[in-house]
Amino acid sequence: MTVHFIGAGPGAADLLTIRGRDIIAACPVCLYAGSLVPKEILSHCPPNANIVNTASMDLNAIIEEIKKADAAGQDVARLHSGDLSIWSAMGEQLRRLRAEGIAVSMTPGVPSFAAAAAALGTELTLPGISQSVILTRTPGRASSMPKDETLKNFAATGATLAIHLSIHNLEQVIADLTPYYGTDCAVAVAFRASWPDQKIIRSTLQNLRDDMPHGIERTALILVGQALAGEDFEESCLYATDYDRRFRPQSASSPFSSGQNE
Ligand SMILES: C[S@@+](CC[C@H](N)C(=O)[O-])C[C@H]1O[C@@H](n2cnc3c(N)ncnc32)[C@H](O)[C@@H]1O
Repeated sequence: MTVHFIGAGPGAADLLTIRGRDIIAACPVCLYAGSLVPKEILSHCPPNANIVNTASMDLNAIIEEIKKADAAGQDVARLHSGDLSIWSAMGEQLRRLRAEGIAVSMTPGVPSFAAAAAALGTELTLPGISQSVILTRTPGRASSMPKDETLKNFAATGATLAIHLSIHNLEQVIADLTPYYGTDCAVAVAFRASWPDQKIIRSTLQNLRDDMPHGIERTALILVGQALAGEDFEESCLYATDYDRRFRPQSASSPFSSGQNE
């Protein structure tokens, strides 16, 4: 028996990996985080599967449900939104399952920051502007932040920021970032990226407060950085006509010409 953790993607039911879909179809038990995992994905479960929404359960109840499946020799598909590797509360489940001697596997999913970038039609790393993306959050009711993981510290790098779980802290986010990025820095809010009711708000740090529509209180990502501003950046060397590289050596004497370098 194995518990298969699966990243169920950001919202659109077809942003699920083929591997994830096939594992769901092969598991007689499915536990899903009902607050964010789209219900259509459950249509991949086999007929008569035991499908459990874990949104209202605590960790003990979730582990008990898995132990019941283990006793019956039934594999479990455990679905979390986006990708598993960030803010999935997977770590604590893994630790308990390992202590119980229950086997696990992990299948990654499309994270919400990638869905937000796609909805914006933008690349988050642009030559000469930003070559790093920081995935972060601000403190919430259930989670404090480690001392040095502050928005101000991250802002000092000038990297593109993808700020999760923080739409309720928007005022503070703007106040913390403005001294570093400037009032005219590009910012975008992606609400329910890839869901049918997706909304994208493009603005600047100065204007965001006024540009925000009412009713965006959760499931939104705040993206900040000049990479979001668009067109004014250098082209990368990768596809430059005269750039000497392994797959496109520029002369017979290039170290990348065949036989000289793998
Ligand atoms: C508990 S975290 C889960 C993150 C998830 N594991 C991932 O890979 O994106 C939930 C937060 O992710 C962001 N989020 C999740 N889905 C989203 C979506 N479709 N559009 C925008 N933000 C989303 C929001 O910031 C939300 O508060």
